[in-house]
Amino acid sequence: MQILVTGGLGYIGSLTCIELIEAGFEPIIIDNLSNSKLQVLNRIEALTDVRPVFYQGDICDSAFMQSVFSAQKIESVIHFAGLKSVAESVSHPLEYYANNVNGTLVLLHAMRKANVKSLLFSSSATVYGDPKVVPITEKTPTGATTNPYGRSKYIIECMLSDLFQAQSDWSITILRYFNPVGAHPSGTMGEDPQGIPNNLMPYIAQVAVGRRDVLSVFGDDYATEDGTGVRDYIHVMDLVEGHLAALKTVSKKSGLHIYNLGTGQGSSVLQMIAAFSQASKKKINYKICPRRPGDIAQCWANTDKAARELNWKATRTLLDMATDTWHWQEKNPQGYV
Ligand code: NAD
Ligand code: UD1
Repeated sequence: MQILVTGGLGYIGSLTCIELIEAGFEPIIIDNLSNSKLQVLNRIEALTDVRPVFYQGDICDSAFMQSVFSAQKIESVIHFAGLKSVAESVSHPLEYYANNVNGTLVLLHAMRKANVKSLLFSSSATVYGDPKVVPITEKTPTGATTNPYGRSKYIIECMLSDLFQAQSDWSITILRYFNPVGAHPSGTMGEDPQGIPNNLMPYIAQVAVGRRDVLSVFGDDYATEDGTGVRDYIHVMDLVEGHLAALKTVSKKSGLHIYNLGTGQGSSVLQMIAAFSQASKKKINYKICPRRPGDIAQCWANTDKAARELNWKATRTLLDMATDTWHWQEKNPQGYV
């Protein structure tokens, strides 16, 4: 069964392709290489003995998208392609709306034309903004987003909901990721941020491997147990398994399905540093700095709905996340080169 994977050479998309192949699906990858490298295809092949069909192109290119649907027999789409830096979205909002919102519109038009009506979409806990109550359930209000990246995800969710209201034979699954971290357990595939990492785990990993001197801890005066920010970090392989679970269950049924993908547990920045030190046996240099503008104190997921309906639960620990990130970083200090 052919599954179109947009953004399939990126961090989460590429690992999803591994699991799709192992589960007997045939991923067809589209990526414009704006935030990934062709080298990833070799790594997928090395791990699975399969080199997936790859189209280099842009999801905003309508003729290109239609040509892919005409050439293949696609049954479902997993849509990862998009831009994801919060800071960059603040300085380049139009690029974020064009790529994320318009790119999704072009994809949906191409799907409709090809009569493909099953979609899994990568959304984010960012659609919840700064929640009044944790843990966050799927019924927690959305929309009070704080930056263009978050708004692009929220707008896409609204578009998908409107589409389903009009065409109830579609199966649309919105997966709201919490904080994906970690790497493939082989240490051959993982996150490869370009430039200075924005996110905590890749930054810690680059300090551990000697690429950066010191981690800035953004604030130790939050109303949390140790004063640092608390997030729901989820191992990327658990996250990927969540996609497979959704693909095998709800994506076969028409409906608008929405799930939080997290572990249900919050961890602080200092706990992440401690886990990484334990995994890497390295001291992580850090200094306490002022809060980062736009950050919230704490956020974690209630994951009961995914457990009930997808029969899926994250199983990997913080130490697993740190260990796999470390293996990837140690073996590939400069990422995919
Ligand atoms: P990533 O940047 O590693 O992967 C995205 C891939 O999409 C890249 O390979 C990039 O080259 C490609 N791409 C971007 N725009 C494209 C376009 N117009 N046409 C074709 N390809 C395009 O990001 P990721 O971490 O794997 O995230 C995947 C998805 O999950 C994104 O939509 C992201 O917003 C969402 N998400 C990620 C996180 C996270 O922490 N990583 C959290 C929540 C949601
Ligand atoms: C960020 C994005 C979110 C996106 C998610 C993807 C913001 C405001 N939010 O979430 O939209 O979906 O990434 O994973 O950017 N921290 C440090 N030092 C660092 C980096 C981070 O102390 O160098 C702290 C942060 O203050 C926060 C925690 O680590 O408390 C996690 O930060 P990060 O990894 O950037 O994720 P989020 O901010 O939760």
